[in-house]
Amino acid sequence: MLQNQPITIETKKKLKSLSRLMSHFHKILLDDAKEEYEKANGNIPNVYLYFQLVLEDKHFAWLRKISYLIALIDEATSVRHPATEEEARKLLKKTHSVLSLLDESDEFFNQKLQKALSKNKAASLIHNEILSLLRMKSQLKITRANERDAEALAKLAKQTFYEAFANDPRNSPEDMKAYTDKAFSVEQISKELCDESIFYFLAKIDEELIGYAKLKPLSQIDCVSAERPIELCRLYLLQKYIGKGFGRSLMNHCLSLAREMKHDVMWLGVWEYNYRAQKFYEKFGFERAGEHIFQLGNDPQTDWIMQKRL
Ligand SMILES: CC(C)(COP(=O)(O)OP(=O)(O)OC[C@H]1O[C@@H](n2cnc3c(N)ncnc32)[C@H](O)[C@@H]1OP(=O)(O)O)[C@@H](O)C(=O)NCCC(=O)NCCS
Repeated sequence: MLQNQPITIETKKKLKSLSRLMSHFHKILLDDAKEEYEKANGNIPNVYLYFQLVLEDKHFAWLRKISYLIALIDEATSVRHPATEEEARKLLKKTHSVLSLLDESDEFFNQKLQKALSKNKAASLIHNEILSLLRMKSQLKITRANERDAEALAKLAKQTFYEAFANDPRNSPEDMKAYTDKAFSVEQISKELCDESIFYFLAKIDEELIGYAKLKPLSQIDCVSAERPIELCRLYLLQKYIGKGFGRSLMNHCLSLAREMKHDVMWLGVWEYNYRAQKFYEKFGFERAGEHIFQLGNDPQTDWIMQKRL
């Protein structure tokens, strides 16, 4: 059925993330192989000889299987020769089988990879990350949360907030704790989930909760003039799922609901230093409309107010 169907945006994004991870993985393995080679044969004197060895010497031969896969993945997402959806899925399956050591036709490669993974922690971590990306079913399920979700949602809200902001030295641990203890307590979230006028959406992959959004219809703010505004109060994903297209799906879900409910403007507050989120919102056509104060514990922070006409 997929025959000749063009590659979907989701699959393309998955291949792009895979290419980034695989290139990083390949570099770590190559560095290891170089070190091993130099131990046995003395230093490689220059980069040209190194290139030649990588391309031709049998010591590096097993790694060519990985670089070949990276080349195929890049080709599949290229503008000139994009793969069909069917070809792209076959490529994902092939990569999975090679990296999971399931390809019994190449025992030599399997042994080499296994040895490299047991020796190098960084390689093993990124290998895990690649396998979880490959296992990830691309179907994101978005549902409205209810009272039974309070505990899971409170936990997710706290975790995603910490992942997003705790590493910024402008946010003190005390302020982070004061804010999250209150805003994301199970009692507070339960209360909001019982409030019919607030919408919480949960995003799940294979039953794993990976992100959420909160919408508040008819919420007003001075700098936004609208007849029927709706506030996008929160939009958060777990760190490891960021940059894979799920933010777009969650945002599109919120925008369609807002349009269905005949709202005319969506608005939101975003921390003045949260550049990544600002760029994300700009991508969807949100524009800066003003600012307001967001109280993080004892710290009055400045949030940009951004709005988008629906
Ligand atoms: C905000 C958030 C939900 C966005 O999700 P995401 O996974 O990063 O976004 P996606 O991968 O779906 O990207 C959607 C589009 O935005 C673009 N985009 C995302 N981040 C970008 C950036 N920093 N610069 C430019 N474009 C960006 C993507 O390129 C993509 O466009 P494309 O489909 O044309 O390639 C996510 O980054 C997040 O959870 N951040 C931490 C929490 C947070 O800051 N929330 C907002 C609080 S106000």
